[in-house]
Order: sequence, then C-alpha cells, then structure tokens
Amino acid sequence: MAWSPEQYVKFEDERTRPARDLLAQVPLNAAARIYDLGCGPGNSTELLVERFGAGSVTGVDSDEAMLAAARQRLPESRFAQADLGHWVPEAPADLLYANAVFQWVPEHVAVLSRLMDSLVPGGVLAVQMPDNLTEPSHTLMEETGLAGPWSGAFEGGKIKRKPLPEPRVYMDALMPKAVRVDLWHTVYYHPLENAAAIVEWVKGTGLRPYLDAAGPQNREAFVADYTARIAAAYPPMADGRVLLHFPRLFLVAVKA
Ligand SMILES: C[S@@+](CC[C@H](N)C(=O)[O-])C[C@H]1O[C@@H](n2cnc3c(N)ncnc32)[C@H](O)[C@@H]1O
Repeated sequence: MAWSPEQYVKFEDERTRPARDLLAQVPLNAAARIYDLGCGPGNSTELLVERFGAGSVTGVDSDEAMLAAARQRLPESRFAQADLGHWVPEAPADLLYANAVFQWVPEHVAVLSRLMDSLVPGGVLAVQMPDNLTEPSHTLMEETGLAGPWSGAFEGGKIKRKPLPEPRVYMDALMPKAVRVDLWHTVYYHPLENAAAIVEWVKGTGLRPYLDAAGPQNREAFVADYTARIAAAYPPMADGRVLLHFPRLFLVAVKA
C-alpha cells in the first residue's frame, strides 16, 4: 500500500496539531538520541528538530516516497527505511516519538511494549493514534464498500482496520516497564470547506486501502458514492462549511 506525500500534506496544519500536542507532553529538557517513528513527509520530524536540534533526530518510515519528501524537507536530518513491526534502534534511545503511525502496525501493543526495552532509564515513548474507526468518516467507507458492485472485495471485513484496544490494555502492557504512563483522548473539531474536503482528507490516509481494493476501474464511482454518504452525515454549519469530529488517543510512558 503506497502513500502519497502530496495528498498527505494537503491538510498538514490539521495533521500536525496532534503532533505538537503530543510533543508538548514529553517531559525531557534535552535528548541526544531521538527517533521519529513513521516520520511521513517530515512534518513531525521538523517539530522534533525545532525542539532538540537536527543532530539528534532520525526519522524512520517504511515508505520510499514519504522518506524522499522528508529528506528534501530536512536535509540535515538522518532518515532510515524500516518496518516498525520489527525495527529496534541501534542503541537505547532517549525518545521514541510516533505520531499517527501505530494504528497501521499489526499487534502494536506488543510492539510498543518491546520498544520500551529500547529506551534508556528515564527515556520516553510518546505515541498518538487516531481513534476514529467508529466515526462516520470511517464507518461509511465500510458501508460504501459493501454497497456497490465492488462488494466482493470487502465482504467479511477484509479491508477493515482493527479498532484500538481499550486504554487499560496499554496501561497493562506498559506500566510494568514504566515509572509513569499518561494516557488521554483529545477530540479535534476541524472545520473543512465541504464534504468533498473530508473525502480529500481521508484519501491521504484511511480511504487508500478501500480505493485500492475497489480497483482503478471503480475508483471514481466509489469516491462519488462515499462522498454522497459523507455529505449526508456531515451537514453544513451556518457558514456552509462542515465539521469533522476527530478523536485521537495519546500516550506518554517514562521508562523505569
Ligand atoms: C499518517 S502518516 C504520519 C506522518 C507524520 N508522523 C505525522 O505526524 O503527520 C503515517 C506514516 O507511517 C508510515 N508507516 C505505516 N506503517 C508503517 C510501518 N509498519 N513501519 C514504518 N512506517 C510505517 C507511513 O509510510 C506514513 O508515512
């Protein structure tokens, strides 16, 4: 499943807001070895560079195109290609920071628990994940998938992403290795131009697997059907724009 940096950065300000909010809760004054996991086009890496300096930050991502965009944006920083399902840093890190990536990594609770072992004592694991699979933006992808002539590709929840586990599951996995785990949800409200803008937003992330599964010949019809459903679920506000309700889960764990 290939990513598109151009599509992703269309809503860069909105997507980077949770990255800032996550970083604001990282209780470190200085850090020499920092990794931006799932660095994407470098928008989150840039925040880490601003706070800690370019020399200490390495961006890690599995996608070539995203890494190329990140390298162009931050020529002074290091970047590496790896799958986070298996990746470990070469030496224990001060900060493992992951904005909007672990929702894509299978069995990510076990992966996060393993990453705690790759921190120095007092080091920090900071993670944010969208927790929006029950929002209309996502349930309507599934509904569209099951409604059209393309439905064979979607039966039995083939494409459906697994919802995040309950918050206590993260506590149970991380607390034995931590002095403190801070866990919280924030709901963002993004005013967007219209229903088509919501569709453009998710085309950069959650809708991609659905469009891939529907096939290139059905892409336009799938998008049209999905957009009509989105328009019905997100009615216009007084100024004509629509309001995207977007819950996200945050966790900051400090290694014992
Ligand atoms: C939604 S973007 C997040 C970009 C950036 N961190 C931000 O804050 O906006 C998710 C990124 O995670 C990467 N990714 C997804 N699964 C991955 C995996 N298993 N290993 C490494 N990177 C992965 C994608 O290539 C993509 O660049």
